[in-house]
Formats: sequence, structure tokens, C-alpha cells
Amino acid sequence: MAQISPATEENALDNAVAVLRAGQLLAIPTETVYGLAADATNGQAVAKIYAAKGRPSFNPLIIHCADMEMVARFAHVSQRAALLANAFWPGPLTLVMPVKPEGGLSDLVLAGLNTVAIRIPRGITRDIIQKLGSPLAAPSANLSGRVSTTTAQHVSAQLGNKVDLILDNGPCSLGLESTILSLIDDGLTLLRPGGLPLEELEKFLGSSIKQAPVNAEIAAPGMLASHYAPSGSLRLNALEVEGEDGALNFGPSKLEATHTLSLSRDGNLEEAAANLFAHLTAFDKLGVKNIAAAPVPLRGLGLAINDRLTRAAAPKE
Ligand code: TXA
Ligand code: MG
Repeated sequence: MAQISPATEENALDNAVAVLRAGQLLAIPTETVYGLAADATNGQAVAKIYAAKGRPSFNPLIIHCADMEMVARFAHVSQRAALLANAFWPGPLTLVMPVKPEGGLSDLVLAGLNTVAIRIPRGITRDIIQKLGSPLAAPSANLSGRVSTTTAQHVSAQLGNKVDLILDNGPCSLGLESTILSLIDDGLTLLRPGGLPLEELEKFLGSSIKQAPVNAEIAAPGMLASHYAPSGSLRLNALEVEGEDGALNFGPSKLEATHTLSLSRDGNLEEAAANLFAHLTAFDKLGVKNIAAAPVPLRGLGLAINDRLTRAAAPKE
């Protein structure tokens, strides 16, 4: 599988677009995590995403657009959605809106739903979508249920030859998936905490946002109990090590094991978010079987970090 970097190769973006035009899979470096992308209007290309990830086919995919004009081709954008878009796009917020069936998204993207999850990403991913002129369907670039990837090397290690080209733009700046907000039927529901802190959204809206119940009807893989999981087991809110061979510290906590990593020594939640998946991947590589994870506060990005750690800790099927 090929890897290309816009930092060293002038034609990187054009090559990336050519891969998508040919109906192939491109790993994209979004600001949240790496995505496994295909042209969302090309059914055969989208089918390859499911095959590569080993993802249950009933799970819908996020589509990534370049601008509001493109968004409006595929979704009914309410006034409230437009306000949120204006404030937070491009960025780590995904809005679930009523789909426009005439937009021509592949049925596989929607997985039978009459809603669509959309975001406008930052940086070169957005440039690629602009050049392609078509939205990208892109779940996180990892095997289904496993740790999301935040570097091109991690994508290559998990998906190897299942992806046609990896666009290497260095580590993702945020390191956590987007926050998903459903705007269906005038309601406002947080489906997944993520890179945009809940407090920021609530402050902007001037109201509180309800969180989707654990067994929500929409079976989003990111909402499955076991997800984002390292191969080993993980114990949450650990105050001491109990025979574990891995320890994941945060802030002042001083857990010590054979292999010890810190999400952020200064207790900085942005830094912790950016390190989370890389550290879980590092434990995997080291062959760590059991991880003790120190408590991370539930404010700001801590909500999403705790969400991912909780799912990583859940018993696997
Ligand atoms: O930051 C992100 O969101 C990354 C990057 C690549 O953009 N993408 C990502 O995609 O995390 P994925 O597929 O791993 O997670 C998307 C979640 C899934 O849990 C999916 O079920 C849910 O969004 N989803 C997609 N369409 C939906 C819909 N119409 N209603 C409710 N949930 C939906
Ligand atoms: Mg994912």
C-alpha cells in the first residue's frame, strides 16, 4: 500500500483525488482521527470501506463536505443546524439531519436511515473534497471495534494493504473523533461526546443538551459497549496498580507498572486527547495484557476521553 505526504510531494492532493475518482479507498488525515474515505456517491467504493473495516453493514457512515452548498445537496438544514454550522464548521462537530434522498448518496452510507450525519472537516481533507466536488464517506480508519488511528503509521499497521493510498499529514491535531449531535424532529441529542466539548455547545446554544440513552435506538458502533478497544483489558479510575503490566497516568497520578505512559503530565485534557489512541496502540505493540488507567476528570474533552476509555474497558463479545 502506498503512502504520500503533502509536505514532501507537490502532487499529493491531486494523487489523492485521483484515487477517489477511481473508486478506491484513501486514508485521510482529518483534524480528529484518520478516516478511511471513499466517494460517498459511489456505492461500489463505499462497499469497500465496510469490507476493509470488517464493519457490520447496518451501521451508517459520516459524510464529509467542503462547504454549506455541498451540505445542502444532501441534507435539509434547519435554522438551528445552520447556526451551529456557522459557529463550529470546519471542525470536530457532526450533525445528524434529515437526508435528501435525491442528493444521490450511496444507500450504504445511510444504511436504511432517513437521516445523514455530516461534518465539514478542517485543512487538507477539506481541500481534497473541494477538488473532488463530491462528499467523502469516512469512518475512522481502524478495524471495526479497535483503536482509532491518529498517525499514518497506525493506519498502515491496522489496515495495511486494504487501503489504496494513505495521505500522511502527521499526527491528527485533536486525536478524538467528532462530537455527534442529532438535530432530528427539533430535538437536540448528544449521540457521541467528542472533540468539541459539550460545554462549548451548551454555552453557544444557551441550553443544556440531553445525552442519548446507553441503549439508544440508533446503533452507532461508537455507541457499542465494547469499542475503541486495545487487545488487552483495561481498568478504569485506577488509584493503584493491581498486578497490571501497563499503567496509563493522567496529571499527578503516579501509577507504576512494567510499561507506564502518561496521557498528560500537566493534566492538560487537550494533550491527553491527542495522546489517547496512540498510547492504547503503544500498549498493544508492547504486548501489554492489562492496563490500569488513572482517573480523568469529566469536564471539557475529559467527557469524550472517559467515554472512549469506558468502551475500551468493556468486556469484548
Ligand atoms: O471524527 C470523526 O467523526 C471521524 C473522522 C474520520 O471524521 N469519523 C468517525 O466515523 O468517527 P465513525 O464511522 O467511526 O463513527 C461515526 C458514527 C458511527 O457511530 C455511526 O453509527 C454514527 O456516526 N452515525 C452515522 N450516521 C448516523 C445517523 N444518520 N444517525 C446516527 N448516527 C449516525
Ligand atoms: Mg470509529
